[in-house]
Amino acid sequence: MDPLARETIIDYYRNPRNKGHLDAPTVSHEEKNPTCGDVVTIELMIEDGVIQDVRFDGHGCSISQAAASMLTERVMGQSLADVQALDKEAVMEMLGIELGPARLKCALLGLKALKVGAYGLESWDWQRGS
Ligand code: FES
Repeated sequence: MDPLARETIIDYYRNPRNKGHLDAPTVSHEEKNPTCGDVVTIELMIEDGVIQDVRFDGHGCSISQAAASMLTERVMGQSLADVQALDKEAVMEMLGIELGPARLKCALLGLKALKVGAYGLESWDWQRGS
């Protein structure tokens, strides 16, 4: 793993940005990684189709928690249309690493919580992140 990317992931894991809860979220959705039981919850405050505020909470490995935290920074102030366009590649770009299938579920746990919470997806493809 690239040392700088590794350092960044550890920093987000130890000092998570936007971790906690909103007073009155428009959307709150929890997702669990079926293989390990780790959890990420995403809360959104949405007004006029724009994410005005966002928090995450959860527990799990460094990649799942760091990716969720990075994601909150990415979507703050974005429209729901922008959020819908986020996929596996966007998360990999944020993390700055390539991951195998097992760790992919770690990386995409927050994205799944975000997108299923925002859109109520009926199906989810871990390979696409959508
Ligand atoms: Fe559980 Fe990474 S090992 S989400």
